[in-house]
Amino acid sequence: MSDADDDRLVSGENENSEEASIEKSLRPATLDQYIGQDRIKHELSVYIQATKQREESLDHVLLYGPPGLGKTTLAMVIANEMAVHIRTTSGPAIEKPGDLVALLNELQPGDILFIDEIHRLPKIVEEMLYSAMEDFFVDIVVGQGPTAHPIHFPLPPFTLIGATTRAGLLSAPLRDRFGIVAHMNYYTVEDLTEIVKRSADIFNTKITDQGSHEIASRSRGTPRIANRLLKRVRDFMEVSDKTAIDEQIVTKSLQFLRVDEEGLDEIDNKILKTMIDFYHGGPVGLGTIAANIGEEADTIAEMYEPYLMQIGYLNRTPRGRVVTEKGYAHLGIAQNKTN
Ligand code: ADE
Repeated sequence: MSDADDDRLVSGENENSEEASIEKSLRPATLDQYIGQDRIKHELSVYIQATKQREESLDHVLLYGPPGLGKTTLAMVIANEMAVHIRTTSGPAIEKPGDLVALLNELQPGDILFIDEIHRLPKIVEEMLYSAMEDFFVDIVVGQGPTAHPIHFPLPPFTLIGATTRAGLLSAPLRDRFGIVAHMNYYTVEDLTEIVKRSADIFNTKITDQGSHEIASRSRGTPRIANRLLKRVRDFMEVSDKTAIDEQIVTKSLQFLRVDEEGLDEIDNKILKTMIDFYHGGPVGLGTIAANIGEEADTIAEMYEPYLMQIGYLNRTPRGRVVTEKGYAHLGIAQNKTN
């Protein structure tokens, strides 16, 4: 990620610890409190109930989808519903096999190990996970040279919950070891409206129906962004003469923050405009777009492109990215059909 993303109001990334702690306070504790993702919730509730009846550990769960959709939150909810402990870590934090053994060693039967960004696990650690997930043991090599020998280390039955923004980057052997695979989708405006209302309630802030709907429609289908926008708009409201967040204050504050009606910020619009101005709307390669606007290709692929595709402004083709008719219309530019 580039430094610019750290300031990005509409990025799905969880940038700082203050935000992380506010996010914690907004976190639902049970599946019932968790708004949206209805299919996944229903599926999970069945597996959780059945597993509890059998007094087993829950099958390993892979959650994948764009950043900010509540993968960590859902992992915590699962732990709460299963009434087990959860240890949370991330792929890049587990540098060597010993780090993984240390984590696994602390688990009690049925506990959950949550690994965020699991696609970034070092290969050697990933390979150690295979036997841990499948048969609840790891083989550790101790000693060096001629005295090196493996030690068989049994583990309690546990549940691995992996989260990733890039399921395509997971190796097949790892992916195949997850019994439950849940693809998290962008939230509907209706669900986000409910989330904004719930968060405003936790903040003790009054908000009108239109106000919460307006924030929801500009949140790119992402609860983390909805909550972030809510906090900013609340600041604007508190220094105004109003006592509640209404549609007008949302519109005014987000105009000031340069978040447009679709929730797109300057960088989204720059991506579309660069493609149109310099490449006739595409096809153009991701690397070329990235170089033109001074962003990293990975950042565009993970944070910008998925939502632009979701709302139908951008298409991915074998020859590169293209701006759609809708994308042209959003920028108010006429599409030259001969291209
Ligand atoms: N806060 C953030 N995401 C949420 C969700 N899905 N349900 C309820 N509150 C949330």
